[in-house]
Amino acid sequence: MPCGLSAACGMLRMSGQFMSDLIFPNDFIWGVSSSAYQIEGAWNEDGKGPSIWDWFSHLPGKTARGETGDAACDHYHRWKEDLELLRALGVGAYRFSVSWSRVIPKGRGKVNPAGLDFYDRLVDGLLARGIQPFPTLYHFDLPLALHKKGGWPERDTAAAFGEYAAVVAARLGDRVPSWITLNEPMIVALLGYLFGTHAPGRRNPGAYARAMHTLLLAHGEAVRAIRAASPKPAQVGIALNLSPVYPETEREADRRAAAGFDLLSNRICLDPILRGAYPPDLWRRFGPFAPPIRDGDLRKISEPNDFLGVNYYTRQVIAGRWWIPVMGGWMVRPKGGEFSPMWEIYPSGIGELVERVWNDYHPHKILVTENGIPVADAPDSSGNVLDPERISYLRRHLRALHGAMAKQIPVGGYFVWSLTDNFEWELGYAMRFGLIHIDFASLKRTPKSSYDWYAGVIRRNGLEESE
Ligand code: FCB
Repeated sequence: MPCGLSAACGMLRMSGQFMSDLIFPNDFIWGVSSSAYQIEGAWNEDGKGPSIWDWFSHLPGKTARGETGDAACDHYHRWKEDLELLRALGVGAYRFSVSWSRVIPKGRGKVNPAGLDFYDRLVDGLLARGIQPFPTLYHFDLPLALHKKGGWPERDTAAAFGEYAAVVAARLGDRVPSWITLNEPMIVALLGYLFGTHAPGRRNPGAYARAMHTLLLAHGEAVRAIRAASPKPAQVGIALNLSPVYPETEREADRRAAAGFDLLSNRICLDPILRGAYPPDLWRRFGPFAPPIRDGDLRKISEPNDFLGVNYYTRQVIAGRWWIPVMGGWMVRPKGGEFSPMWEIYPSGIGELVERVWNDYHPHKILVTENGIPVADAPDSSGNVLDPERISYLRRHLRALHGAMAKQIPVGGYFVWSLTDNFEWELGYAMRFGLIHIDFASLKRTPKSSYDWYAGVIRRNGLEESE
């Protein structure tokens, strides 16, 4: 709506905002996300034990250009500078992850006090700046010692995760109100144990299926452990990577493949956690590779959660092709689509996704725990980093999210992935997701134009009508 300085326009302003501005609820949480291995560095300092990523990234040919997270953003030493950048951004919450092997170097048993102290200081530093700490207990970095004992395909790893969760919650729970148990268990199992592109690089359908079940069990163990060990009431949830799935055409083969893909990518986690049952036809597809499931497992897995974290980046378009039954179908690059260097840009998908999750599962609350885009941005001749593509991506996703919330879907917060550029797993440092640019040679931090834009969104609690 063109406005200028007309009197009519002035009347539309209510307490400094246009009635048509996209304003979010007063208690909406604005945040950013990160994860330990992707930013911390200090991979072998102060008593930290190795994780599967410390080992895997050092193997030849596993990551682009042989890059590792040995130093990453050096957040372990520069955390104060990063907290100052968070403060200036104005976020209400910071989602970070705790490195299991920094806290318990061998995964089980002896605790490393220096590791716990690091997160203790981080939590205090956040609170001192008025930011809610929002830790995730597992973001892809299994202690190597546990991998050597079988890793996620081994049922006992769920119990080890419960013990670790209790240690961290007992120490930080007096100041941490909300916890995320696992980040993206489906990705952990799929990329780590079937495709082999993530640590530990296995390619084994049985290991994949068993890892999937153990991860879900681990989530249930941690929900109970956190609540039992935390000195104060704790809100607990999980972050799942979810995508709306569409058939390429209305052909029966495509529709069947899309339903299969939805089963293996979305419902494989949603159904057991939120309904207490695996989809009836899920494990039949695995034949002899189906995991052993014991009585009581589903009850543990479906321990009630306080919120569901949704990581959304893209949709999936699926075609039925008999020659490649990966995930039940073939992922298609839709014609006429808009693409980032990694995925299709599909903003309305975030609205469709939260609506579907709400209608089908009714979680207590939904938080968008990750959303973002890689952009090949770099400082210009004056040292500014301009990333209009990121602003456009985030803005369009927030608009779509707001549209879903107008239908009374309880979305309580939104976290941008990520605060800074960081180590993007097997793709190394070339994929820049940050609101803050990192020069990985000097480790200099430069807020991008998207950082200023997001600060404005947080200040206004929404988007301006003209955006
Ligand atoms: C998510 C991961 C996160 C990051 C983004 C781009 O799947 O949780 O660590 O890699 O993708």
